[in-house]
This record gives sequence, structure tokens and C-alpha cells, in this order.
Amino acid sequence: MKIGVIMGGISSEREISLQTGCEMIRHLDRGRYEPVPIVIDQRADLITQVRQAGIDLALLALHGQYGEDGTVQGALETLGIPYTGSGVLASSLCMNKQLSKMILKAAGVHTPEGLCWQGMNDYNPKVVQQLGYPVIVKPNTGGSSIGIQLVHHEKELLPAVQGAFSLDRAILIEPYLNGVELTCSIVDGELLPIMGIQSSHSEWFDYRSKYEAGGAEEIVIQLPSDAEERVREAALASYRLLQCKVYARVDMMLYQDIPYVLEVNTLPGMTVNSLLPKSAAAAGMTFTQLLDRIIDCSLHERKQEWRLEQHV
Ligand SMILES: Nc1ncnc2c1ncn2[C@@H]1O[C@H](COP(=O)(O)OP(=O)(O)O)[C@@H](O)[C@H]1O
Ligand SMILES: [Mg+2]
Repeated sequence: MKIGVIMGGISSEREISLQTGCEMIRHLDRGRYEPVPIVIDQRADLITQVRQAGIDLALLALHGQYGEDGTVQGALETLGIPYTGSGVLASSLCMNKQLSKMILKAAGVHTPEGLCWQGMNDYNPKVVQQLGYPVIVKPNTGGSSIGIQLVHHEKELLPAVQGAFSLDRAILIEPYLNGVELTCSIVDGELLPIMGIQSSHSEWFDYRSKYEAGGAEEIVIQLPSDAEERVREAALASYRLLQCKVYARVDMMLYQDIPYVLEVNTLPGMTVNSLLPKSAAAAGMTFTQLLDRIIDCSLHERKQEWRLEQHV
């Protein structure tokens, strides 16, 4: 089976995507698959390269805009090429943190209460004061912690807001929850061991903590059984409510024993340092087995979706 590993792309997470793609290629079972690296440098590359390569499945190693946001998924649907992970709707929904949070909140899943500003016209330090410092300022559709800042005082607010707006048309301002950071990897609807994250040099999980060796301690966490049950429920409910398929990773803060969902990642990082492969390893699954499972489950999922369409 010819597997196109789609990587690179044009988002701020391009570098991470290249690392994810290389790691996937390194671990794909050569007995079952023939990997074809497909590096995207500009949007139209996807169509031309995928067509030229004549692949049976697109293994998505992209992150962020034009990759994780449903656009590439839509293009592949149009070309009739099966791809890995969630479909168009879940991909674009999860890319938009504000809309995801609205859906989660409506269904009773906790997520930090905050503000969503659509432009500098919304800038209003008084409402942030009411929220209470410190706050986290983040681009609504970002990833890899790029453009996120922890703001302790009003005097740091303006540059943080301007910085986030330089990357996005909408930004979120949330109270900083000083709790235990957790991430829940889900594969084929099954929750893998919950990982706890402790950054080595920062009060939060910033870019350096995520990708530098030794930037953070990420270990399987043993929670009291009632807290663990709440975390499990919040993770699986988020996955289900946002229509995720095949796999995803739910980022959370456990604060005063309540899990607050920060976001859901539909194409989570799969680099050497990434959390999903670590969580899979803790469940006894090698990277190769994880890829097998993602591929099998994606083929099954696309077959189901496309079979339904043919009946319309
Ligand atoms: N409300 C919050 N309270 C505390 N920390 C937060 C909050 N929101 C984000 N963070 C920190 O910022 C990191 C990145 O935020 P997240 O919403 O997951 O965006 P990204 O898509 O960039 O990963 C989180 O892993 C966490 O460490
Ligand atoms: Mg995150």
C-alpha cells in the first residue's frame, strides 16, 4: 500500500510538521506500506503532488492552518483519496478554539471562562481586570503555543494582545488556571494513559517546553480515582461532541479538582518529543503499531463515510 506522508505546509507549525512526517516515515511498517514523502511548500502542491504520487492513502503529518483545519481534508475528499484522522467538520471546528469551547460549554464540559476579541477595537483592559490577572492571551486558531503569552499585569496586556492579533483575526483571553496540566490522547475512541505535564523553565507549556529536549517532564499521571473519572469523561465527551474521528489529543488543566478543557488537537504532534506517541508507548503500543492503528481506523472510517454518500 502506497502511503503519502503529507508534511510541511504553510502554517507557523511547518517545522514541527516536518519533524512529525520524518518520524512517521521512520516508523512505518515497510512490510505493509511503501512511504512516499510529500512535502508541501505552497497550497497547490497538495493537489499536484498527491496526484503525481498515485497514493492509496494520505497520512497527514500537517499541523495548523491548511492542514489541521479541514482544508486539506476537503481537498482530499474532492480527489477521492482517503486520509488519516478526523473529517472536515471536526478538523475546522477544533482549529477554532472559541467555537469548540462554546460547544463544550453548552454540553456541560468545563473550559476556562474568558473573552474573545475580534480586533483591536475590542481592546478593553477593564474587562480583563474583572477577569483577574494573571491571564493567558492566545490566538484563536493557533497551535504549538505560538503567539501565546502569560500576562501578569495590565502593563503587559497591550503588547501581548497586539502580538496575538499579528497572528490571528481573533484572540482569546482566559484566566490563567494554575493547576495540573494534563493531556488525554484518544485513539479510535479509546483513552490512552493520561499524561501530566510539568514545564522545566516556565509557568506554562510554551514552545520551548514543548519541543526542546528536557523542556518539560511528561509522565503518566496517577490521579485519585474520582478525578481520573472526571478527566476521562471530559476527554471522551470533547472528542465525541466535536465529532473527532480516528485520533485526537485533548489538552486540559485540572484546577481545584475540575478538568477544564483548553483545546482539542485533531492532528497532534508525532515528533520524538510528542505526547501522543509517549502515551501510546505507556499503553504498550510502539510508534509503528500506533501508525498501523491510525491507518486501519482511518480507512475504515472513510469507507463508512463514503459508502453512506453513495446511497444519497
Ligand atoms: N487558561 C489557561 N490557564 C493556564 N494555562 C493555559 C491556559 N490556556 C493555555 N495555557 C497554557 O498554554 C498552553 C497552550 O495552550 P493551548 O490552548 O493548548 O494552545 P496550543 O494550540 O498553542 O497548544 C497550554 O498547554 C497551557 O500550558
Ligand atoms: Mg495545546
